[in-house]
Amino acid sequence: MNNGTCSSITGIARVGRNSADSFARARRVFPDGTSRVTIDRDPVPLYIERGVGSYLFDVDGRRFLDLNGNFTALIHGHAFAPIVEALTDQLQRGSCFANPTKSEIELAELLCSRIPQVERVRFVNTGTEAVLFAIKAARAITGRSKIAKLEGAYHGAYDWSEVSLTATPHNWGDPTAPSSTAFYHGMPASVLDEVVVLRFNDVEGARRLLSMHARNLAAVILDPMPSRGGLIAPKSEFMVAVQETARDRGILVIADEVLNLRQSIRGASARYGLVPDLVTMGKIIGGGLPIGAIGGREDLMKVFDASAGDPLLPQGGTFSANPLSMTAGLAAMRHLDSAAFSYLEMLGNIVRDGISRVISNRGAPLCVTGAASLFRLHPIAQIPNDYRDAYPAPAGATVMRQLTRFFAENGIFLPHGAAASMSTPMTRADAELIIDVFARFLDRHQEMLDAIQVRR
Ligand SMILES: Cc1ncc(COP(=O)(O)O)c(C=O)c1O
Repeated sequence: MNNGTCSSITGIARVGRNSADSFARARRVFPDGTSRVTIDRDPVPLYIERGVGSYLFDVDGRRFLDLNGNFTALIHGHAFAPIVEALTDQLQRGSCFANPTKSEIELAELLCSRIPQVERVRFVNTGTEAVLFAIKAARAITGRSKIAKLEGAYHGAYDWSEVSLTATPHNWGDPTAPSSTAFYHGMPASVLDEVVVLRFNDVEGARRLLSMHARNLAAVILDPMPSRGGLIAPKSEFMVAVQETARDRGILVIADEVLNLRQSIRGASARYGLVPDLVTMGKIIGGGLPIGAIGGREDLMKVFDASAGDPLLPQGGTFSANPLSMTAGLAAMRHLDSAAFSYLEMLGNIVRDGISRVISNRGAPLCVTGAASLFRLHPIAQIPNDYRDAYPAPAGATVMRQLTRFFAENGIFLPHGAAASMSTPMTRADAELIIDVFARFLDRHQEMLDAIQVRR
């Protein structure tokens, strides 16, 4: 299995020769050898030859259980037969037109029938675009320009939604009034001025900061369980505080469900008692093809209505609602019925419970968060309450890097610093394997774990 590889530590070698060759070639055409900052490279990315069900096969012929699922998008794993068939049929009939197709109506009907508060839909190509248009919609509807968002929460690459994404202990500021921190060099100060940063689960802070800035706030955008923010469960009082204050002050609530729509057949807001005005979706609704969608109440979604002339918010895109994404999404979502959600929930529970058991048996200074088909490991002993709690100290960050490596060496592709996700082709045996590999990691890295306890 490890033919043609450079070094071997436990099971699978860290660097495959073919991946290393591809990366060397890629570095001659891409600024850092990749097209996404999120690609894990340790020290080179895994170049993939194919994906089958819950497995990835890399260009060195090695097999990995895929817990990344292209950043949680692939809820049915790879090359899911109904999606392949639907796409093959659609491709033979054309890939995109300057005209609508029936497939977009069918996918929109499915979303409207399932997701509360989604009465009308607009399709775009990515979650970034969905968030961008939802924020613009809120501005167009309210006539206000500022937004509020959660510290450490990822919402894609729109400037305003990137503020404080990577806040650190050096710049995140006062716990009661977090600073707005720049995500990239040159981020305009005007953008920072237009974003109010809230701490997740800070009930009093949410009420105070939203009220204080209400006059200028178009929307508060929140992911009910931000993955990069720690994949931490929301307190119901926090959800209530945000939506009550927003309602009282005419601030729209945007639920960003691009990632967490996979938490239930009705999405994540329904699971956590959030009643949003607008909802952004993406990832799983595209069945593995690029997609995004903005949904919401009929009266609010009129902001996009161009039937009587210029809408308040003109919105379009060359590939928006293209029939390939619509067709793949429809096949994926139709197969994601209540039974599929229950199965994923069960797998997730097995993994989270198993990992927690292993941690407590060994008294290890780690914990696991998440819900439904998602989980995330943290190098801290207590379940974090927010992004600041979850922010790893340097020794903890080293442990997480070693953990990702150990999983790869044992045939599991575990995302680093983000949510791991289960998919419908995974089995109980896969779930048990994850727990077993985790237990073996703890057994072999006791010294490193002791170091986090001492240094924290
Ligand atoms: C909550 C959330 N919003 C928005 C996005 C952006 O979606 P995309 O990568 O499709 O632009 C992501 C992507 O991970 C996300 O997790």
